Amino acid sequence: MKKILVTGALGQIGSEIVLKLREIYGDSNVIASSKDDREAGSEEVTGSGPFEIVDVLNLRQISQVVSKYKIDGIVHLAAVLSAVGEEKPHLLWDVNMNGLYNILEIAREKECAIFTPSSIAAFGPSTPPDQTPQDTIQRPTTIYGVSKVAGELLCDYYYERFGVDTRGVRFPGLISYKALPGGGTTDYAVHIYYEALKSKKFVSNIKEGTKMDMMYMPDALDAIINLMEADPSKLKHRNAFNITAMSFAPEDIYKEIKKHIPEFTLEYDVDPIKQRIAESWPNSLDDRAAREEWGWNPKYDLSSMTEDMLAKLRLKLKI
Ligand code: SER
Repeated sequence: MKKILVTGALGQIGSEIVLKLREIYGDSNVIASSKDDREAGSEEVTGSGPFEIVDVLNLRQISQVVSKYKIDGIVHLAAVLSAVGEEKPHLLWDVNMNGLYNILEIAREKECAIFTPSSIAAFGPSTPPDQTPQDTIQRPTTIYGVSKVAGELLCDYYYERFGVDTRGVRFPGLISYKALPGGGTTDYAVHIYYEALKSKKFVSNIKEGTKMDMMYMPDALDAIINLMEADPSKLKHRNAFNITAMSFAPEDIYKEIKKHIPEFTLEYDVDPIKQRIAESWPNSLDDRAAREEWGWNPKYDLSSMTEDMLAKLRLKLKI
């Protein structure tokens, strides 16, 4: 990839991957895009290189930007997440499916490679929940998960049928300190750090004992870049690879934070919708295919992530 378009560039992943890609490929070669530029704290992204308004539901807008910058790689991140999706299933289907379809069509026409994330949400209650295999039953029960399975299949189809270089990973919950996640089920694992520092008390909307896979953002960014740079002859899978860095329940992350903030307390006020979603997802993924095919190897575990998150958030929140 030489000229890269990032959609959803002001979101939780987008606002970090744009900066990292600009370091590697050059500021002017990474075009950040979003359907509007009103997100708070977006200046770092909009000010450090090209920024364009692109609504992924507007085929002409995507096409114009891809032609204008001679884009040859698209990191497609614009999407609605799981919890918001249960409130607005029609919006989710429109953005996640029609948005992806538009991006794939432009990529086919203009010969671009594509990275787009799938998720642990692509699995469901009938999936083996522990050490979930790479290739297994995928019968999700959320509209988000349905869109992720359909998206994986559509990306595979565009590769097999039209030769579009599509690649993806199944991201677990992503934890980061720059932009907040927007309406996912795993968001609690980000908010808990903010509350530990701000109010020393956290109310978890996910029940004790509910394990989900998680990952610190620096590892997620490496995953995107390493997979896109991977030798295609080594890839047996494409859409999408299981990847994980850790698996924990609310009480595990709480105990880890408490080591640094002894007065921190945890309570529960379970959100039934988020809990139902969380329980339908795996407890832990088997990520051996990603390790074998393109060298996936995360650096952060719960303890090193917690140390770094608290240090970075202390600076950000001036606490
Ligand atoms: N973090 C996402 C969510 O909770 C999972 O892909 O929706």
